[in-house]
Amino acid sequence: MKRIGVLTSGGDAPGMNAAIRAVVRKAIYHDMEVFGVKNGFYGLMEGNFERMHLGSVGDIIHRGGTILFSARSEEFKTDEGQKKAVEQLKKAGIEGLVVIGGDGSFKGAQKLTEKGIPCIGVPGTIDNDIAGTDFTVGFDTSLNTIIEAVDKVRDTATSHERTYIIEVMGRNAGDLALWAGMSVGAESILIPEQKEEFSEVVDRLNRGHKRGKKHSIILLAEGVASGFEVGKYIEETTDLETRVTVLGHIQRGGSPTGQDRVLASRLGAAAVELLLDNKSSRMVGIRKNHIIDNDMDDILNQKHHINSEMFQLSKELSI
Ligand code: F6P
Repeated sequence: MKRIGVLTSGGDAPGMNAAIRAVVRKAIYHDMEVFGVKNGFYGLMEGNFERMHLGSVGDIIHRGGTILFSARSEEFKTDEGQKKAVEQLKKAGIEGLVVIGGDGSFKGAQKLTEKGIPCIGVPGTIDNDIAGTDFTVGFDTSLNTIIEAVDKVRDTATSHERTYIIEVMGRNAGDLALWAGMSVGAESILIPEQKEEFSEVVDRLNRGHKRGKKHSIILLAEGVASGFEVGKYIEETTDLETRVTVLGHIQRGGSPTGQDRVLASRLGAAAVELLLDNKSSRMVGIRKNHIIDNDMDDILNQKHHINSEMFQLSKELSI
């Protein structure tokens, strides 16, 4: 393989730039030509390609977002849209593609593979919701952003003796809430994978209050309910003064942590190696600090599981 493309798709994640850099530099190291595809699958259909050189990815390893931009395209989900993209790739002589994104992006990559363009996936999403990898690029940075924000909220929660519900992203996954909740010593962690009645949360809050607790922090994954819904329930069923903080897209931005930069660099480079070996339809990942790759269909048919031991421990530590 002599000429490859790289794109970012779906919700952006800190570390995507480090992954792009790794793909470009690793490919050039192996005498391949690399094209950056702008605006994800949308740009693919439009033939929005730009030849990347060593300097094209200079000074980006520390930047959040993605220099290639990202988009969610409805047209690409159609057979027609996919054929358009394949034609553009063939016209440009691009023989293989690295897709950096989440599971929606990998579904798109699978369609391209079926239509004759070998694709390799690099998991890039703050949600950490992809099977076949312990961590996705962006998760660690987002986690640290949440921790920093909650530490600040805690100061004012203490001063005013309030109960705070912090709603975090994650789509249908609870990893961000679980890891952040454990990191900040939250009184309750509500995640979609371990359903809990709101009444149990209230019982725990009341027990804590009786024991003399002055404030409480509840980490809520957006996949469970909205923060305002939970806040209303607590205000209606207790005497506790309650506030809701929805962290929103602040969780998707910022300079990537060292963990994310290293992970992105390793995964991006591994994706290029797979293309060099004429592999296709694989997703790279990390397991116990080893870079691995798995069949993309298997990944898409599996669910990422939360660490249930960690969840149990978080409960034991917040009695
Ligand atoms: O998948 C990343 C993510 O940030 C989710 O956590 C969140 O539910 C979603 O994207 C938000 O999407 P958008 O940026 O389109 O509002």
